[in-house]
Amino acid sequence: MTSRILTCAAWPYANGPRHIGHVSGFAVPADVFSRYQRMAGNDVLMVSGTDEHGTAIQVKADSEGLTARQTADKYHQIIVEDLQGLGLSYDLYTRTTTLNHRAVVQALFSALHRNGYVVAKTQMGAISPSTGRTLADRYIEGTCPLCGYDGARGDQCDNCGRQLDPSDLINPHSRIDDEVPVFVETEHFFLDLPALAEQLQAWLATRTDWRPNVIRFSEQFAKELQPRAITRDLDWGVPVPLEGWSDAAMKRIYVWFDAVIGYLSASIEWARRSGNPDAWRDYWTGGGAGSYYFMGKDNITFHTVIWPGILLGANGQGSRGGSPSAFGELDLPTEIVSSEFLTMSGSKFSSSRNKVIYVRDFLAEFGPDALRYYIAVAGPENQDTDFTWDEFVRRTNYELANEWGNLVNRSISMAHKNVGAIPAAAELFDIDRALLDSCRAAYGTIGELLGRARFKQAISEAMRIVSLANKYISDCEPWKLKADPERRDTVLHVALQAVQDCNTLLTPFLPHSAQKVFDALGGEGVWAAQPQIVTVDEDDAPSYPVLTGDYTVEQARWESRPVAVGTPLAKPSPIFAKLDEKLGATGPSWAPVLAG
Ligand code: MF3
Ligand code: ZN
Repeated sequence: MTSRILTCAAWPYANGPRHIGHVSGFAVPADVFSRYQRMAGNDVLMVSGTDEHGTAIQVKADSEGLTARQTADKYHQIIVEDLQGLGLSYDLYTRTTTLNHRAVVQALFSALHRNGYVVAKTQMGAISPSTGRTLADRYIEGTCPLCGYDGARGDQCDNCGRQLDPSDLINPHSRIDDEVPVFVETEHFFLDLPALAEQLQAWLATRTDWRPNVIRFSEQFAKELQPRAITRDLDWGVPVPLEGWSDAAMKRIYVWFDAVIGYLSASIEWARRSGNPDAWRDYWTGGGAGSYYFMGKDNITFHTVIWPGILLGANGQGSRGGSPSAFGELDLPTEIVSSEFLTMSGSKFSSSRNKVIYVRDFLAEFGPDALRYYIAVAGPENQDTDFTWDEFVRRTNYELANEWGNLVNRSISMAHKNVGAIPAAAELFDIDRALLDSCRAAYGTIGELLGRARFKQAISEAMRIVSLANKYISDCEPWKLKADPERRDTVLHVALQAVQDCNTLLTPFLPHSAQKVFDALGGEGVWAAQPQIVTVDEDDAPSYPVLTGDYTVEQARWESRPVAVGTPLAKPSPIFAKLDEKLGATGPSWAPVLAG
């Protein structure tokens, strides 16, 4: 039975190129998942885009002497290239500065307001006196009134761990330019989460199969819901669609409120671009699709509480009732797949601390699949995980190259040299059947793991089958079977069948090399499709690049296909290059291992 799957990968900020910590948490896992689901015959829509509004982009713009829009344009382009290079199979990767996104955000805001879940309140806000913009809590620094630590931030003190308000700080000043903020009365709109709390808690109680870290965070958060400001004093963002607000130069919708709505607006944009403007509804209404959200752990509550709260309120399903927005009753998330952080020698990858490995540099030197493999097998799926060059070299050399690459290479080489084609099998022995059975059984085991987003276990199981196939060849020693070509050909046939099966099982993880192995086995056409960068526009607005692709052309299916006996085989070239062992100790020049 075909299922409909909506894959939602978190939206990266347009404030810099992506580093490998970013993509290990949301993008690569979401792609592995989507590729598997397509191979299993399901109907997948994978959407995301660049998160281009808000303070983070404004701060970056100021630091580079650009406008916020120029900054968004610059990094959207770069991020699109990073994600394309990784082979992330988005149906649409767009951005939040489109007219479509603005309209969808405003429609949901209006529905929430009409239903009574968005209320105006006056509060004291920290403003930069020179720009008139809100100084976000975390951009204000000062002395903690509780413990005296002088690097406390406006949202919390990292020394004593307590939650703070910026106005609590002694000697508050801007982290950006040291300016002293002024605290002024300012009116803002708040999402009335307490009016949605009962429904949110009831819904959360039904989410029993989420990862434990996700459930723990969300339930805790949902217990203490306060109204949350969803507008800011800022000139960069979606205007508030209400009289007296829409033309206010310094009032904009808060970036997180707009970004999560991107999942819906991107689906709507995708539908329009695909020629069937209503096609998004199948993924969003009527409960017919499963929706899977992928993100790093710092994004959890936005996806498990705030976003469902927005949906419930816009649907008119909170304790104040109401009626659905123009989009009808929208479905809440099915699964929230959150990963932990990828660190480098103990510290969170952070561009500000200059301890980063950029995707772009990584791809240029090592190609996409070595990174995809590392992320799947050694990434931060369940706990913070340290990336080291040493482990990268070991995984690449001993697992990808020696185990998988070598299996491919020696099987195809021997068949090429001895037969010139995929040989037929004669009578099968127990040892042959045992390997073929293991290969076939793996589709069920690994498919089940991938369906539950257990990537580490899934790839380990696939690599276990690779080892079985290598052991089979060593045990059968086809090179010693010159006198018995029938048996030799049978062994080579079984080995090639195992290569083809392992290649299928590894395709969601390693789509680029899977295509090469498919080609080396004499396949023709597209095995694993790749995303394309396409330039699009809307009405009179400037054009922009998106990622998209036609994944219906790919032949990869989650099933064992018999190898085509008689297919000519050429001499294979190695699929994975081995890395210089020294790299483990030194790192590459663009991300050297630092002493200490
Ligand atoms: N830009 C945010 C971050 O990098 C993630 C936004 S995810 C979204 O932390 F879905 F809300 F857009
Ligand atoms: Zn403190």
